[in-house]
Amino acid sequence: MDDVGANEPGAADGTRSPRLVGRKTVLRAALAATAAIPVALMGGPALARTLTAGGTAPGLTPPCDDGDDPTPEQIEGPYFKPRSPERTSLLEPGMPGTPLTVTGYVFGRACRPLTGVLLDFWQADTNGAYDNTGFRLRGHQYTGSQGSFALTTIVPGLYPGRTRHLHVKVQAPGRSVLTTQLYFPNEPRNTTDTIFDPRLVMTVRDAGGGREAAFDFVLDVPQDPGPGPTPTDTPPGGTWVVGLTYRAGDRVTYAGRAYTCLQPHTAQPGWEPPAVPALWRAA
Ligand SMILES: [Fe+2]
Repeated sequence: MDDVGANEPGAADGTRSPRLVGRKTVLRAALAATAAIPVALMGGPALARTLTAGGTAPGLTPPCDDGDDPTPEQIEGPYFKPRSPERTSLLEPGMPGTPLTVTGYVFGRACRPLTGVLLDFWQADTNGAYDNTGFRLRGHQYTGSQGSFALTTIVPGLYPGRTRHLHVKVQAPGRSVLTTQLYFPNEPRNTTDTIFDPRLVMTVRDAGGGREAAFDFVLDVPQDPGPGPTPTDTPPGGTWVVGLTYRAGDRVTYAGRAYTCLQPHTAQPGWEPPAVPALWRAA
């Protein structure tokens, strides 16, 4: 492996914030829900669905809720190459590895989606090696009109000194570049990799022999917050129903018990209120 021992520099360069990750307020969840309706339609990328060995859900990917927490920066590392091909799939015939999709949205400071945002991904192969001569497992794409992106690739392998991660540069038109990394939950090395930042952990679940990950970026791009929910909006209530879109603060009953919605999402089978404490709190 040609990059063995090539640990990325800057592990203690102060790029990591000491702020602990935690559930942020949902004061503007209704606004976020308005902007992020496609998120709900896709099944809720911000949901923490991967359970730990102990059966407890990890912390949520920080939602875009209050406009003051852009996605943290991370070091670029030694393997970035400019002029990657434009493509949403990095898969190539015969490429070994566990299939991985990464989907999400790019928001500005007002939690409204940003279109035409460049996302340039690069990563190690399943053996932990980067292609530094060609463009294997490198590619860029742009967010569409809804601010969404979708990457098809493989789960990156481990290499010495680092936990499992993807590299990405994110740039809105005419704005500065955000260079960062995305991480996987429940990785043993997350606790020893000094570059790791829990705010950059994706929501990941197993699916069809592969893995589905989700992450929403928040760029430091000022935005008009736009119209909020109108007073005529009537929150859904009554009995919990699959397919209904709930907003933070909505109250339902399930199996005779009352629950309050904690974050916007569209109800799906398996997401019954008692089963997903990340979404519903017993009232
Ligand atoms: Fe890396």
